[in-house]
Amino acid sequence: MRRLDGKTALITGAARGIGLAFAQAYAAEGARVAIADINHDAAAAAAAGIGPAAMAVRMDVTDQASIEAAVAAVEAAFGGIDILINNAALFSAAPIVEITRTDYDRIFAVNVAGTLFTLQAVAKGMIARGRGGKIINMASQAGRRGESLVAVYCASKAAVISLTQSAGLNLIAHGINVNAIAPGVVDGEHWDGVDAFFAQYEGKAPGQKKREVGAAVPFGRMGVAEDLTGMAIFLATDEARYIVAQTYNVDGGNWMS
Ligand SMILES: NC(=O)c1ccc[n+]([C@@H]2O[C@H](COP(=O)([O-])OP(=O)(O)OC[C@H]3O[C@@H](n4cnc5c(N)ncnc54)[C@H](O)[C@@H]3O)[C@@H](O)[C@H]2O)c1
Repeated sequence: MRRLDGKTALITGAARGIGLAFAQAYAAEGARVAIADINHDAAAAAAAGIGPAAMAVRMDVTDQASIEAAVAAVEAAFGGIDILINNAALFSAAPIVEITRTDYDRIFAVNVAGTLFTLQAVAKGMIARGRGGKIINMASQAGRRGESLVAVYCASKAAVISLTQSAGLNLIAHGINVNAIAPGVVDGEHWDGVDAFFAQYEGKAPGQKKREVGAAVPFGRMGVAEDLTGMAIFLATDEARYIVAQTYNVDGGNWMS
């Protein structure tokens, strides 16, 4: 008996990185997984790599019609969603005086509104089915405190932690557990972009910021996406039924240090 046998999961932003690792891990645990991403070609390739347990679905979490169409498509194909991972996100960095309203709106549209309204659309279906569900939001250590050059992303992830609390308290009455994971620094294409930002703003050589943050993690290295899959599986199982509105650090000790 695998831990997610018979379950259906929708994972946003799962065409690559952490979301893709979650989709692979969930499928290995017996779940059917919908890989929802704005990059549909990459989502389709990711689903093909997993096999018949996976489907790709086109989804822009900033667009209400796209959210509703994607959720309806997954419900029609798989017969209802048991697990949602709100994983899609964008990163940006700039000194306070260089932040633009356009960038603020872009980051909050994906990281905050995208999380809330995808959660809402999936929760409506879960409530209608009357079988509860599990919702996992991807927060960040960046949501635990501000950072000099990362104001907008940090604020967006603080909002994800807050939404997790409110939605968790509201939806547990329907048997829906809403919780979040706060990773530290996880290597991959996302962090290639972060490294490039710091190269620009701190005058570092390409790759230097990654080496520095990896060396500073108490565990001794940056995370990899697979370091997070255990928590993502656990929070989706009945073992986590009494856990509500929490955000768990999975970060090699980075936040504590
Ligand atoms: N990598 C890290 O170090 C780290 C640390 C803390 C938190 N996180 C969080 O973990 C999650 C996954 O991070 P990652 O490193 O895999 O990121 P990533 O950038 O590699 O992947 C993000 C995915 O989201 C998709 N996406 C972007 N905008 C979208 C939209 N409007 N609609 C649908 N999909 C969209 C992208 O196409 C991409 O596939 C994010 O929420 C991120 O903030 C990552």
